[in-house]
Amino acid sequence: MKKWIVANWKMNGDMTLVNLYIQAFKDYSNLIVVPPFVYIKEFSSMLCAGQNVYYENDGAYTGEISAKHLQNIGTKFCLVGHSERRAYFSETNAIVKNKALQCIDHNIVPIICIGESLSDYENGKTENVLTTQINECLPNGGDFWIAYEPLWAIGTGKTPTLDEIQKIQMFIKSQFLHTVTVLYGGSVKASNAGEILKLPNVDGVLVGGASLDIAEIDSMLKHAKQ
Ligand code: PGA
Repeated sequence: MKKWIVANWKMNGDMTLVNLYIQAFKDYSNLIVVPPFVYIKEFSSMLCAGQNVYYENDGAYTGEISAKHLQNIGTKFCLVGHSERRAYFSETNAIVKNKALQCIDHNIVPIICIGESLSDYENGKTENVLTTQINECLPNGGDFWIAYEPLWAIGTGKTPTLDEIQKIQMFIKSQFLHTVTVLYGGSVKASNAGEILKLPNVDGVLVGGASLDIAEIDSMLKHAKQ
Protein backbone atom coordinates (compact mmCIF):
# COMPACT_ATOMS: atom_id res chain seq x y z
CA MET A 1 0.00 0.00 0.00
CA LYS A 2 1.20 3.49 -0.84
CA LYS A 3 2.32 5.46 2.24
CA TRP A 4 2.23 9.25 1.92
CA ILE A 5 4.76 11.80 3.05
CA VAL A 6 3.15 15.23 3.36
CA ALA A 7 5.74 17.97 3.86
CA ASN A 8 4.26 21.04 5.56
CA TRP A 9 6.81 23.84 5.41
CA LYS A 10 4.55 26.18 7.39
CA MET A 11 5.79 29.82 6.99
CA ASN A 12 9.32 28.64 6.14
CA GLY A 13 11.40 27.82 3.09
CA ASP A 14 12.62 29.84 0.14
CA MET A 15 13.54 29.38 -3.53
CA THR A 16 16.65 27.45 -2.49
CA LEU A 17 14.52 24.87 -0.70
CA VAL A 18 12.09 24.80 -3.65
CA ASN A 19 14.94 23.93 -6.01
CA LEU A 20 16.43 21.35 -3.65
CA TYR A 21 13.04 19.64 -3.38
CA ILE A 22 12.51 19.59 -7.12
CA GLN A 23 15.97 18.22 -7.80
CA ALA A 24 15.77 15.55 -5.12
CA PHE A 25 12.13 14.48 -5.15
CA LYS A 26 10.52 15.19 -8.52
CA ASP A 27 10.05 11.49 -9.27
CA TYR A 28 8.19 10.56 -6.09
CA SER A 29 4.46 10.08 -6.49
CA ASN A 30 3.83 9.65 -2.74
CA LEU A 31 5.22 13.04 -1.69
CA ILE A 32 2.88 16.01 -1.27
CA VAL A 33 4.68 19.31 -0.81
CA VAL A 34 2.88 21.95 1.27
CA PRO A 35 4.90 25.13 0.71
CA PRO A 36 3.77 28.71 1.28
CA PHE A 37 1.23 29.63 -1.45
CA VAL A 38 3.71 31.74 -3.43
CA TYR A 39 5.82 28.66 -4.26
CA ILE A 40 3.08 26.23 -5.29
CA LYS A 41 3.39 27.04 -8.99
CA GLU A 42 7.08 26.15 -8.95
CA PHE A 43 6.10 22.54 -8.30
CA SER A 44 4.19 22.04 -11.53
CA SER A 45 5.37 18.44 -11.92
CA MET A 46 4.85 17.42 -8.29
CA LEU A 47 1.88 16.99 -5.97
CA CYS A 48 1.22 20.04 -3.83
CA ALA A 49 -1.20 21.13 -1.15
CA GLY A 50 -2.22 24.56 0.09
CA GLN A 51 -1.65 25.23 3.79
CA ASN A 52 -5.00 26.95 4.10
CA VAL A 53 -7.94 28.17 2.02
CA TYR A 54 -10.79 30.64 2.49
CA TYR A 55 -14.39 29.43 2.79
CA GLU A 56 -15.90 31.84 0.27
CA ASN A 57 -15.71 31.35 -3.47
CA ASP A 58 -14.57 34.89 -4.29
CA GLY A 59 -15.19 38.48 -3.25
CA ALA A 60 -13.77 41.36 -1.23
CA TYR A 61 -11.60 39.36 1.17
CA THR A 62 -8.22 41.02 0.76
CA GLY A 63 -5.35 38.65 1.35
CA GLU A 64 -7.34 35.42 1.18
CA ILE A 65 -6.88 32.55 -1.29
CA SER A 66 -9.89 30.62 -2.56
CA ALA A 67 -10.26 26.97 -3.50
CA LYS A 68 -10.97 28.25 -7.01
CA HIS A 69 -7.50 29.84 -7.10
CA LEU A 70 -5.86 26.64 -5.89
CA GLN A 71 -7.78 24.58 -8.44
CA ASN A 72 -6.85 27.04 -11.15
CA ILE A 73 -3.13 26.38 -10.67
CA GLY A 74 -3.60 22.62 -10.45
CA THR A 75 -3.37 22.10 -6.67
CA LYS A 76 -4.79 18.71 -5.74
CA PHE A 77 -4.84 18.92 -1.92
CA CYS A 78 -5.21 21.49 0.86
CA LEU A 79 -4.62 21.34 4.61
CA VAL A 80 -7.68 22.47 6.50
CA GLY A 81 -7.98 23.19 10.22
CA HIS A 82 -4.33 22.78 11.12
CA SER A 83 -4.00 23.34 14.88
CA GLU A 84 -1.93 26.48 14.29
CA ARG A 85 -4.80 27.93 12.24
CA ARG A 86 -7.23 26.99 14.99
CA ALA A 87 -5.00 28.45 17.73
CA TYR A 88 -3.69 31.65 16.09
CA PHE A 89 -6.47 32.46 13.63
CA SER A 90 -9.49 31.37 15.67
CA GLU A 91 -10.69 28.72 13.24
CA THR A 92 -13.68 26.87 14.66
CA ASN A 93 -14.93 23.45 13.65
CA ALA A 94 -17.69 25.16 11.63
CA ILE A 95 -15.14 27.23 9.70
CA VAL A 96 -13.02 24.14 9.10
CA LYS A 97 -16.04 22.34 7.67
CA ASN A 98 -16.85 25.22 5.32
CA LYS A 99 -13.26 25.27 4.10
CA ALA A 100 -13.37 21.52 3.51
CA LEU A 101 -16.62 21.92 1.54
CA GLN A 102 -15.06 24.64 -0.62
CA CYS A 103 -12.17 22.30 -1.43
CA ILE A 104 -14.48 19.43 -2.33
CA ASP A 105 -16.56 21.72 -4.55
CA HIS A 106 -13.35 22.51 -6.46
CA ASN A 107 -12.01 18.96 -6.74
CA ILE A 108 -9.34 19.56 -4.13
CA VAL A 109 -8.96 16.91 -1.44
CA PRO A 110 -9.03 18.60 1.97
CA ILE A 111 -6.64 17.11 4.52
CA ILE A 112 -8.62 17.87 7.65
CA CYS A 113 -6.50 18.11 10.79
CA ILE A 114 -7.87 16.92 14.12
CA GLY A 115 -6.22 16.22 17.45
CA GLU A 116 -6.54 16.47 21.21
CA SER A 117 -4.79 18.81 23.66
CA LEU A 118 -2.39 17.56 26.30
CA SER A 119 -4.99 17.85 29.05
CA ASP A 120 -7.55 15.93 26.96
CA TYR A 121 -4.92 13.26 26.40
CA GLU A 122 -3.97 13.09 30.07
CA ASN A 123 -7.63 12.89 31.10
CA GLY A 124 -8.37 10.05 28.70
CA LYS A 125 -10.66 12.22 26.56
CA THR A 126 -8.91 11.74 23.21
CA GLU A 127 -11.65 9.67 21.57
CA ASN A 128 -14.40 12.04 22.77
CA VAL A 129 -12.57 15.08 21.43
CA LEU A 130 -11.88 13.42 18.10
CA THR A 131 -15.50 12.29 17.77
CA THR A 132 -16.70 15.88 18.28
CA GLN A 133 -14.20 17.18 15.74
CA ILE A 134 -15.20 14.50 13.25
CA ASN A 135 -18.89 15.27 13.71
CA GLU A 136 -18.43 19.02 13.43
CA CYS A 137 -15.62 19.40 10.86
CA LEU A 138 -16.16 16.65 8.37
CA PRO A 139 -18.34 16.96 5.29
CA ASN A 140 -20.96 14.26 4.78
CA GLY A 141 -19.67 13.28 1.39
CA GLY A 142 -16.91 13.91 -1.08
CA ASP A 143 -13.31 12.85 -0.96
CA PHE A 144 -11.38 13.99 2.10
CA TRP A 145 -8.40 12.85 4.13
CA ILE A 146 -7.82 13.18 7.85
CA ALA A 147 -4.57 14.05 9.61
CA TYR A 148 -4.50 12.99 13.24
CA GLU A 149 -2.16 15.39 15.00
CA PRO A 150 -2.16 15.41 18.81
CA LEU A 151 -1.59 19.08 19.68
CA TRP A 152 0.96 18.16 22.33
CA ALA A 153 3.05 16.30 19.74
CA ILE A 154 3.34 19.16 17.23
CA GLY A 155 6.81 20.68 17.28
CA THR A 156 7.59 19.24 20.72
CA GLY A 157 9.62 16.14 19.93
CA LYS A 158 7.02 14.07 21.80
CA THR A 159 4.79 11.47 20.17
CA PRO A 160 2.19 9.01 21.40
CA THR A 161 3.44 5.43 21.63
CA LEU A 162 3.16 3.29 18.51
CA ASP A 163 0.31 1.37 20.18
CA GLU A 164 -1.54 4.60 20.87
CA ILE A 165 -1.08 5.83 17.31
CA GLN A 166 -2.29 2.52 15.91
CA LYS A 167 -5.33 2.48 18.21
CA ILE A 168 -6.38 6.07 17.49
CA GLN A 169 -5.87 5.74 13.75
CA MET A 170 -8.07 2.63 13.85
CA PHE A 171 -10.65 4.49 15.94
CA ILE A 172 -10.76 7.33 13.38
CA LYS A 173 -11.13 4.92 10.47
CA SER A 174 -13.93 3.08 12.30
CA GLN A 175 -16.04 6.27 12.29
CA PHE A 176 -16.64 5.93 8.55
CA LEU A 177 -18.46 3.42 6.40
CA HIS A 178 -16.06 4.05 3.54
CA THR A 179 -12.26 3.81 3.50
CA VAL A 180 -10.65 7.08 4.54
CA THR A 181 -6.97 7.97 4.22
CA VAL A 182 -5.72 8.88 7.71
CA LEU A 183 -2.28 10.41 8.24
CA TYR A 184 -0.41 10.75 11.51
CA GLY A 185 1.37 14.03 12.31
CA GLY A 186 3.33 15.47 15.23
CA SER A 187 7.12 15.31 15.66
CA VAL A 188 7.65 12.86 12.81
CA LYS A 189 11.32 12.68 11.82
CA ALA A 190 13.54 10.28 9.91
CA SER A 191 14.35 8.46 13.15
CA ASN A 192 10.74 7.54 14.01
CA ALA A 193 9.06 7.60 10.58
CA GLY A 194 10.00 4.02 9.75
CA GLU A 195 8.15 2.55 12.72
CA ILE A 196 5.17 4.89 12.38
CA LEU A 197 4.80 4.21 8.65
CA LYS A 198 4.81 0.47 9.29
CA LEU A 199 1.61 0.70 11.36
CA PRO A 200 -1.19 -0.74 9.23
CA ASN A 201 -3.66 2.05 10.01
CA VAL A 202 -1.23 4.84 9.21
CA ASP A 203 -1.59 5.80 5.56
CA GLY A 204 1.17 8.37 5.74
CA VAL A 205 2.72 11.11 7.82
CA LEU A 206 2.29 14.87 7.98
CA VAL A 207 5.70 16.33 8.66
CA GLY A 208 6.35 19.89 9.85
CA GLY A 209 9.77 20.88 11.18
CA ALA A 210 11.67 17.97 9.66
CA SER A 211 10.30 18.76 6.19
CA LEU A 212 12.76 21.67 5.95
CA ASP A 213 15.64 19.19 5.88
CA ILE A 214 16.10 17.40 2.56
CA ALA A 215 17.98 14.50 4.16
CA GLU A 216 15.12 13.92 6.61
CA ILE A 217 12.51 13.76 3.85
CA ASP A 218 14.76 11.61 1.68
CA SER A 219 15.07 9.08 4.49
CA MET A 220 11.30 9.10 5.14
CA LEU A 221 10.60 8.48 1.46
CA LYS A 222 12.91 5.47 1.63
CA HIS A 223 11.07 4.18 4.72
CA ALA A 224 7.76 4.70 2.94
CA LYS A 225 8.87 2.40 0.13
CA GLN A 226 9.59 -0.54 2.42
P1 PGA B 1 5.99 18.92 13.44
O1 PGA B 1 4.67 19.59 12.87
O2 PGA B 1 6.35 17.78 12.53
O3 PGA B 1 6.99 20.01 13.45
O4 PGA B 1 5.66 18.40 14.82
C1 PGA B 1 3.63 18.80 12.35
C2 PGA B 1 2.55 19.69 11.82
O5 PGA B 1 2.35 20.78 12.37
O6 PGA B 1 1.86 19.35 10.86
